[in-house]
Amino acid sequence: MKVTVVGAGAVGASCAEYIAIKDFASEVVLLDIKEGFAEGKAMDLMQTASLNSFDTKITGVTNDYSKTADSNICVITSGIPRKPGMTREELIGINAGIVKSVTSSLIQYSPNTIIIVVSNPMDTMTYLVHKSTNLPKNRIIGMGGALDSARFKYRLAEALGAPISDVDGMVIGAHSDVGMVPLTRLATRNSVPVSKFISNERMEQVKEDTKVGGATLTKLLGTSAWYAPGAAVSALVQAIACDQKKMFPCSVLLEGEYGLNDICLGAPVILGKNGIEKIVELELTSEEKEALMTSSEGVRNVNSLL
Ligand code: 2OP
Repeated sequence: MKVTVVGAGAVGASCAEYIAIKDFASEVVLLDIKEGFAEGKAMDLMQTASLNSFDTKITGVTNDYSKTADSNICVITSGIPRKPGMTREELIGINAGIVKSVTSSLIQYSPNTIIIVVSNPMDTMTYLVHKSTNLPKNRIIGMGGALDSARFKYRLAEALGAPISDVDGMVIGAHSDVGMVPLTRLATRNSVPVSKFISNERMEQVKEDTKVGGATLTKLLGTSAWYAPGAAVSALVQAIACDQKKMFPCSVLLEGEYGLNDICLGAPVILGKNGIEKIVELELTSEEKEALMTSSEGVRNVNSLL
């Protein structure tokens, strides 16, 4: 199993590290345009191999896509991260050109690859990959909902005073500060609806804290987060690489599901060796459907800038 990660910045390097530690891939190629940067990160990571007990080979390359040849899965993290006060959508001007160019180079050497898009604005970048390639829709996946759901569970556990392992919840819709749809109605504490334990007011606070989870960290860190994004991507890569048939909310091209067409938006999908094995249509309340529609309108507005 060969995985390529484009972008050796904080998110890409964290993703490479978590993939290596999980030790399901034979090789991870880490590629960056900055001379020597990916080579350095890869060498530093490889020097943790005996300490973290993994045999995965991490190779760093500077802008040489021939070294990514025959990758089973390619992760695109390249582009600029947002600064405090910026929205993800403001990155489109620079990141769209980068993502289009990177995608073309990856497919040239790995025509059968599955692509996971991380670069922001992620839903629009995922849509761009669809529009600029002939890859089948099951092989283009946007990572956003897995990260947002992890933040949702973090906030739920905080509100419940419960261990994260007791909590489950999912966020669908856009990976954007205003477009996320945390499904509070379906969130559980060990199979019991969380509404049994926390008030509606507290639940609303959990929703709002979840939606700005990325912006909260960008304000604290001065740049976008990287540990949780990297971990979320590595979970998607593992589900595909190990054919786990696990369900995650991912940005996928909708063609009628949830009443939406010609848009990439966060929806629950089953991930396995073929990438998206199935898009899962949930029974949503009218309020949830309305929130998803509003979310889709925001993404369409950003898509129109492509
Ligand atoms: C985040 O939410 C980088 O969009 C990513 O942290």
